[in-house]
Amino acid sequence: MPDTLPPAPKPWQRLSVSIIAAMLLMTILMALSMVVVSDYSVKRQIAAMPPEWHLQLDPDSKQRQSNAGPGGASVAEATGGRVVRSVPQIPQIPDRPNGTARLTPPPRPSRTERFRRELLNNLLLAIVISGLGAVLVGAVLARRIAQPIDEVSRAAQLVASGDLSARARQLPGSAEIVSLTRHFNQMASSLDQLERERRDMIADIAHELRTPLAVVQARLDAFEDGILQPVPNELALIGAQIELLTRLVSDLRTLSLADAGRLPLQRLPLDLSALSGRIAQSYASKASASGRHLNTDLTKAELPVLADRDRLSQILINLLENAVRYTSSGTHITVQTRQEDLWAVLRVRDTGKGFDQGSLPHLFSRFYRADESRNRDYGGSGLGLAIVAVLVQAHGGQVHARNVQGGGAEVEIKLPLLLENEATGDATG
Ligand SMILES: Nc1ncnc2c1ncn2[C@@H]1O[C@H](COP(=O)(O)OP(=O)(O)O)[C@@H](O)[C@H]1O
Ligand SMILES: [Mg+2]
Repeated sequence: MPDTLPPAPKPWQRLSVSIIAAMLLMTILMALSMVVVSDYSVKRQIAAMPPEWHLQLDPDSKQRQSNAGPGGASVAEATGGRVVRSVPQIPQIPDRPNGTARLTPPPRPSRTERFRRELLNNLLLAIVISGLGAVLVGAVLARRIAQPIDEVSRAAQLVASGDLSARARQLPGSAEIVSLTRHFNQMASSLDQLERERRDMIADIAHELRTPLAVVQARLDAFEDGILQPVPNELALIGAQIELLTRLVSDLRTLSLADAGRLPLQRLPLDLSALSGRIAQSYASKASASGRHLNTDLTKAELPVLADRDRLSQILINLLENAVRYTSSGTHITVQTRQEDLWAVLRVRDTGKGFDQGSLPHLFSRFYRADESRNRDYGGSGLGLAIVAVLVQAHGGQVHARNVQGGGAEVEIKLPLLLENEATGDATG
């Protein structure tokens, strides 16, 4: 975090002031250019008039011409029928015999000159009116642009200072600004959600670690006090708790590595059907020991995927463990593989009571257990399906959980099928 904040902006650095100033400047520049151009063009038009028109428009000029005498220049000197210059004449004031000068009234401006001046005056008036208009329009525009930005900036400041519940009010404005506010609020909501998840997760981890540690501690205290003897049964119980802790730590590590995008995967071409068959076979005895019947329904043809063998095994074991853990004796569990479009599909289905309807949207969340108190007794930490989800995603696949018709739960994993040209490319590359 930077130590120093940038200095607060000066009032004239505000967006609203800049917009109004820009509008005003543009208007003034436009009006000035209009004045200059129209004055120039009026002058040209007047100069291009035939001399007799000049006399008509400005009958005094003849008088002034004669007053000027031989030393004065003509008002409009024609050269080859074209007037080239126009010089205002200063009337000669002859000295009076008694030495006092006779005051002559200043010459009246010519009609063309009056026309020019009036035009300029009108243009100046137009500048003032349009300048005021520019300030007004600028102020309205600035309000529409600057106010929503100020609102987002205020909310951003609150979020930066740790208040993740701060949101910017949606003020009317242009589409871009409305979308800026909406996206800012979405970002703040995501941050808020992430922060809440982080806090919950820390609390959940502490909770999960505490239970097995407390069991181990109690046993050790009892050994120390001579209340219990460290007989193999008791030691096995401690061993089971330590195994639970080890698994929890390993699951947490998998999740955090996956979150950081650093989950190491040894992806090699393998046959999903064959691998599923082998794992199901090795799990069958465990399932039947607890009264479940494990069947397979596998594709005859190969189901090539590019996957990490150990991670795929972990996915299937997690699903099989759930199918045993959350069903009762006599349940049938089926491991099915299929090729569907460009997917290699693996399904684990059971004939148990299925997922609780309300739990379906949360099944893949960390530390989620549908029946908190009961499932804790089964030893699940609520990370099994979350691990399945991150591993499947790391392989570019998809995972879905649903209840099947007739009762029972089904989890479906879809992995991208390894196409023949990819496999050869992989083998040779
Ligand atoms: N086959 C299933 N049948 C019914 N409920 C299941 C099944 N598999 C998972 N669940 C429910 O989903 C929850 C989350 O499962 P999981 O993430 O594997 O956590 P756990 O560590 O509790 O096994 C479980 O607590 C359980 O309530
Ligand atoms: Mg589980």
